[in-house]
Amino acid sequence: MTMKSVIHLCLLMAAAGLWSCSQRQPAVPRGNVSIIPMPASISETADSFLLDKQTVIVAGNESDKKTAALFNAWLKELTGYELEVKAQGDKNAILLQTGNDSTNAEGYTLTASHNNIIIKGNSGAGTFYGVQTLIQLLPVEKAHAMFVPGVSITDAPRFAYRGLHLDVGRHFFSVDFIKKYIDLMAMHKLNTFHWHLTEDQGWRIEIKKYPRLQEVASKRKETMAGRYADNKYDGKPYGGFYTQEQVKEVVQYAADHFITVIPEIEMPGHSLAALAAYPNLGCTGGPYEVGTRWGVYDDVYCAGNDSVYLFLQDVLDEVMALFPGRYIHIGGDESPKVRWEKCPKCQARMKQEGLKDEHALQSYFIQRMEKYLNSKGRQIIGWDEILEGGLAPNATVMSWRGIEGGIAAARQKHDVIMTPGEFCYFDHYQSRGPNEPLAIGGFLPVSKVYSYEPVPSELNSDEAKYIKGAQANVWTEYINNTNYLEYMVYPRAAALSEVLWSPKDKRNYDNFTERLKVHLKRLDLKKVNYAKHVFEVTGKVTDNGKGGVDVILASKLDGGKIFFTTDSTAPTPQATPYTTPVQITHTGTLRAQVFLDGKPFGNEYNQAFLFHKGLAKKISSMTAADAGHRPDTNFVLVNGIEGNAAYNDNEWFGFNGKDMEAIVELDSVQDIHLVGINTVNAKGDWIYPPKQVVFAVSDDGKTFKEVYKQSTFAQQGISKVRGHLQAVRGKFVKVQMQNFGKIPAGAPGAGNGAWLFADEFIIN
Ligand code: ACM
Ligand code: ZN
Repeated sequence: MTMKSVIHLCLLMAAAGLWSCSQRQPAVPRGNVSIIPMPASISETADSFLLDKQTVIVAGNESDKKTAALFNAWLKELTGYELEVKAQGDKNAILLQTGNDSTNAEGYTLTASHNNIIIKGNSGAGTFYGVQTLIQLLPVEKAHAMFVPGVSITDAPRFAYRGLHLDVGRHFFSVDFIKKYIDLMAMHKLNTFHWHLTEDQGWRIEIKKYPRLQEVASKRKETMAGRYADNKYDGKPYGGFYTQEQVKEVVQYAADHFITVIPEIEMPGHSLAALAAYPNLGCTGGPYEVGTRWGVYDDVYCAGNDSVYLFLQDVLDEVMALFPGRYIHIGGDESPKVRWEKCPKCQARMKQEGLKDEHALQSYFIQRMEKYLNSKGRQIIGWDEILEGGLAPNATVMSWRGIEGGIAAARQKHDVIMTPGEFCYFDHYQSRGPNEPLAIGGFLPVSKVYSYEPVPSELNSDEAKYIKGAQANVWTEYINNTNYLEYMVYPRAAALSEVLWSPKDKRNYDNFTERLKVHLKRLDLKKVNYAKHVFEVTGKVTDNGKGGVDVILASKLDGGKIFFTTDSTAPTPQATPYTTPVQITHTGTLRAQVFLDGKPFGNEYNQAFLFHKGLAKKISSMTAADAGHRPDTNFVLVNGIEGNAAYNDNEWFGFNGKDMEAIVELDSVQDIHLVGINTVNAKGDWIYPPKQVVFAVSDDGKTFKEVYKQSTFAQQGISKVRGHLQAVRGKFVKVQMQNFGKIPAGAPGAGNGAWLFADEFIIN
């Protein structure tokens, strides 16, 4: 009997009132349940439930009826029909039963058997999450009748706070899109939407008392185009804000999906747009202009001016009326103190309040606003800078500059939300491939998100209780459209959802990627432009231990076949099929692609290699690179790959404020025609060319003779330092690069040590 006729027969029997398909073969292959995030406990039975047009939903209370309606909306997309919602019944039914267990309110149980599906939530939220799980038990192919595998699930989240953030200041996203963002959050059992509503580059929430926030602060005259360091602008006016009616609509929509919205109104920094509208709120009085470039601005709210506090209280009054949740985020990050240092009002305030420095003044600012919000029954959340100068008494800390802020706050018995850049910044690159759209930097693949453990090992069990959960942040400087945004968020948010929901011992990346194969089809149904890196072909460049470089190609795509070329032509299914590691034997580009049923899947692997005598040779000594720009092994210096112009490929060695020296040892004394190394000039990112580069050669590794020196470099971007030599022989080649030194006054990062970048030490 074919699958189709099983369904057909059961439908006939159901129609005839002969609801007894229990003898039928289980229609769903066992072990094929693919739920993300993984439930706390799940057992599969040899049973199944057939969902069809006759199935009813039994829902008693209002909350469950709403949840039933959301289930119906999903079902309609899949089947074209909706189920009748009734108050009673138990055969061929999905029963939603909400209890009242406040200790584990988001938990639920779900049992599916041939008679019915029973979802018992500990609260409305629990029932809702049970229904989200049910949706993931449905097949992903559109059909009229569907088998739900027999299961018994007991589930509850590991963390109470499961967040996703969105910066709508740098780029604005429509209400319809925000609703889709919320739908997807709910599907992944995330429960907190952090809506970053105000920025230097735009104020996005209507505040009726201050119309210039709409008229002036919500618009900028143009936007930075391309890389920050290029300092180019698009010349196009940009703007947008949410009306209060729209905000209410979003908050209600989120509430229907059991998601709390936390609004963020930034202070005292990231406030340039507001200053442009009301210049009296800044220390200098302006004039100010809504930000057009990314980064941090020196102009912030004046902490010495009482009008500032009154303005912010008015703003927060309107915000509180729109957002019923307990938490209001008041920012607090990246607020330079240079204006305050020179402002008579700020200095007078410090004196009057006995504040020892500007950090204490920031603390005064935050505590004053906290007091106001507490008096209205609300709690503040702030970025970890609010720890500086003394923490406000009831504040929750969002730890973003690593985990240290979270550790410190937990030890002070403050609630903490972890959102460290290394694991939680979804504006970072997710692949080192050359096809990525321009991003702010960093490298955060899905696997790394998945590996995140929100509770720092430094905390004891009492302190660990203050870690309420974690959140991914989605800053949108470079993310200027919805397709790109979805690409950055999914499937990384799916990985994070499992970190936050599932028991720690249930996490398994290989198992997650297996489930992700099915899950991505669910995202297809929701028309999500997710990233496909997890299943793309990858290349691992390795030292083959025989004085050469091998590339190991791989893909997790089921049924995928990898083909590659080494002559720079595009890989097709007619190219060489990949079987064993590819050895690099000449200068050129290795291109590889995984194909499924003859069609290319995802991005290709495309890597240029420079074949030279120094390739994979021993590095007998080398200055240690500094954290942030330190490839995994020194082999990277001689792996045949030149660091790229975006310096996001983990090729560049960075030396912060210090010189660099490295010695490469060839197999024997031999003729050397060329020595070379690349370096970078990107002053906007604190990266300076060296003062000079010197190469020297030796037979014995002890006595070196200088063979080439260079002290001028490109004004911008990569310099390829190359010394062409005549009649030079040697076995050891040394490079010495002298750091630029301190970054000069007036330049970004002034006073800090310059970064010196080096990659691919070339010998020929
Ligand atoms: C932040 O990323 N500035 C909180
Ligand atoms: Zn001031």
